Amino acid sequence: MADSRIIGFLGRAISHEFSAAQQYLAQARLTALWGLESESAGFRKDADEEMGHADMLLTRMLFHGATPGGTHLAPVRLGRSLADLLLHDRELELDAVRLYEEAMTYCRRRRAEDDAQLFERILNDELEHVREIDARLAAMDNRSRSRG
Ligand SMILES: [Fe+2]
Ligand SMILES: [Fe+2]
Repeated sequence: MADSRIIGFLGRAISHEFSAAQQYLAQARLTALWGLESESAGFRKDADEEMGHADMLLTRMLFHGATPGGTHLAPVRLGRSLADLLLHDRELELDAVRLYEEAMTYCRRRRAEDDAQLFERILNDELEHVREIDARLAAMDNRSRSRG
């Protein structure tokens, strides 16, 4: 069995990924109610991607002989506008970035290279999520400015 801190990071990461999937699914349903079909499809795709991360982490935990699973779901954060949703998502993704940076650094120090690589791979996806959210927020900002 791997050291208990690595198992701890994997468990926290699984909790994060299921929380993110739940948030994006809720946002997909809410934006569908608002009639924002393409936004809704985008949030559903985000949820699928976070579930894919959970799957990789569960697989890794099994490999270490641990029972895979997260233990803590964060509350879903919604809002009254698309910008509200994206700002909550940005916070969620930045939490993930911090978690994966810490986990990756720890694993590298312990020479647990396979675990470090898994955390690094997911970290890069989360950094991309932050960039996508920033681009969407910037585009909304520009649109409202060109209208105003
Ligand atoms: Fe993720
Ligand atoms: Fe993400």
